[in-house]
Amino acid sequence: MASKAASAAAASRKRKVLLMGKSGSGKSSMRSIIFSNYVARDVRRLGATIDVEHSHAKFMGNLTLNLWDCGGQDAFTESYLNSQRESVFSDASVLIYVFDIESRELERDLDTYSAVIAALSEYSPNAYVFCLVHKMDLVQHEQRERIYEERCRLIAARSENLKLETFASSIWDQTLYKAWAGIVHKMVPNLAAIEKFLNAFAKQLQAEEIVLFERSTFLMVTSVFADQQETNPNPDRYERISNIMKSYKHTVARNTRTTPASAGFLLFKVQTPTFNCFLARFTPNTYIYLVVPAGEAAFNCAVLNTMMARDVFAKRTGVEG
Ligand code: GTP
Ligand code: MG
Repeated sequence: MASKAASAAAASRKRKVLLMGKSGSGKSSMRSIIFSNYVARDVRRLGATIDVEHSHAKFMGNLTLNLWDCGGQDAFTESYLNSQRESVFSDASVLIYVFDIESRELERDLDTYSAVIAALSEYSPNAYVFCLVHKMDLVQHEQRERIYEERCRLIAARSENLKLETFASSIWDQTLYKAWAGIVHKMVPNLAAIEKFLNAFAKQLQAEEIVLFERSTFLMVTSVFADQQETNPNPDRYERISNIMKSYKHTVARNTRTTPASAGFLLFKVQTPTFNCFLARFTPNTYIYLVVPAGEAAFNCAVLNTMMARDVFAKRTGVEG
């Protein structure tokens, strides 16, 4: 009985996610693109966030992100750190802190970050911290790596002992999807069961690679490979697929007068003399991408098996409709 209750709790999770950083750094822009189907050119219409804007984002059907988008104007930040300290910082699973690469007050930004980290350490010492060095599109291409690494060092020095990951991001390219997939990956319930299933499935189909995407955000959930040693020449292929499929859904929605959330497809395929790949609707909350050996038979077999594997996958991983 107890283990049933525990597994039900593990299968369905609610996570408090704090989204913080200076006013104008791009917090609400990213949230709207990832979870509310905005496109990058729409976010200019967003006004500054007043105090905290709460929203709930469902992910994979069994994870609820309780997003606290905290307006970053000085007066609000002051209040989060003082009068609202306990209510804002307690029970947080994740802090996403956004640094605006264009900011001319780096030292001041870092001081505010330190104060936020101190409050988080006090009330949620086990929280993960993700720092996004954002608006990287405004930095010249050849300078990006150096400037990003420099910022990462400064951020790490101010992060106390909290678990920290940093990403370079911009709403104008696929880096946005890499950063948010990295964040959500840490929160997905039953990830080990999902990966175990996909590894076994890849072996059965002799698939070179299998990637799972969440349906509404099109963020990558996880990926497995047959050959761990192989280095693919396109390391950013997952976030590129996310970006392309999101744009595709927007185009479909515009042309069929539906919403991007409901615009979908069943199967995209590419068949070449050396390999086959396809991206298909899997469970109600996921899409699956497979790279399988060349040939019509291998392709048909993989598609058929994928369709038949849906229910077992849902049952074993708790990712259901
Ligand atoms: P507050 O709500 O006041 O805390 O600000 P915020 O962090 O929510 O900022 P918001 O998302 O409203 O974005 C402010 C501006 O930054 C918008 O006009 C966006 O167009 C712009 N912006 C957001 N992301 C990017 C980016 O990656 N690159 C560039 N160049 N501009 C961006
Ligand atoms: Mg905002």
